[in-house]
Amino acid sequence: MVKPWLAWTAAQPLPNGKGEGRAMTQGLIITGTDTGVGKTVFAAALAGALPASYWKPIQCGVADGGDSARVRALSGLAPDRIYPEAYRLAMAASPHRAAEAENTEISLAQLGLPSIEGPLVIEGAGGLMVPVNRQTLMIDVFASWRLPVVLIARTALGTINHSLLSIEALNGRNIPILGIAFVGEEIADTERTIAEMGNVRHLGRLPPLDALTPAKLADAFAAHFRLEDFR
Ligand SMILES: Nc1ncnc2c1ncn2[C@@H]1O[C@H](COP(=O)(O)OP(=O)(O)O)[C@@H](O)[C@H]1O
Ligand SMILES: [Mg+2]
Repeated sequence: MVKPWLAWTAAQPLPNGKGEGRAMTQGLIITGTDTGVGKTVFAAALAGALPASYWKPIQCGVADGGDSARVRALSGLAPDRIYPEAYRLAMAASPHRAAEAENTEISLAQLGLPSIEGPLVIEGAGGLMVPVNRQTLMIDVFASWRLPVVLIARTALGTINHSLLSIEALNGRNIPILGIAFVGEEIADTERTIAEMGNVRHLGRLPPLDALTPAKLADAFAAHFRLEDFR
């Protein structure tokens, strides 16, 4: 059976017109309410479980190693499942600023979806309203891809505001939301409030892990999420 979000994807030509007449990328965008909420850890768990390929189109602060290396280490995916970044920028800053520091500008033309076999998990940079250049936000890039989004959110105090704002922004651009995935200790009322008031599916919650090893992460993902929700 074709899942609704895949059917939706397949029905849309890409904005650059390249979508017609070839196998569509079956992709999912992993975004978050903020930087540091757990997008990379969740993306590693999901990509490893599906399995899928992983793509971090814009990486800032490469000195820290970068998310692709982290996903490779945490997911157990083969190196060729990690699609190379379109932009690797040294400064640990917003993409627009990190690009300017290298006298370059991030161009949407360089951010076309890779044409690969099988599902693709794409991790955005920071949250939705992060500028990639002086005219374009990360959320605009997501809208151009016409792929559904998984929103990663903390459970800690402040998350209701951040999550509902993010959901409203996605709805405002007609970006389909597969659901919300939480990272952190269980705070049941907060999670329920966001899912109900944001009218989004609660996909699960990744608990805090003492040791972030590939095996522990895979076990936690299997225990707290249903893989069929992402297929
Ligand atoms: N489930 C978890 N258990 C323990 N630490 C986590 C978990 N999820 C994320 N972290 C840690 O939180 C920090 C931010 O996570 P990361 O996935 O890099 O966030 P983002 O990609 O949103 O910036 C990292 O140090 C990461 O190891
Ligand atoms: Mg990350």
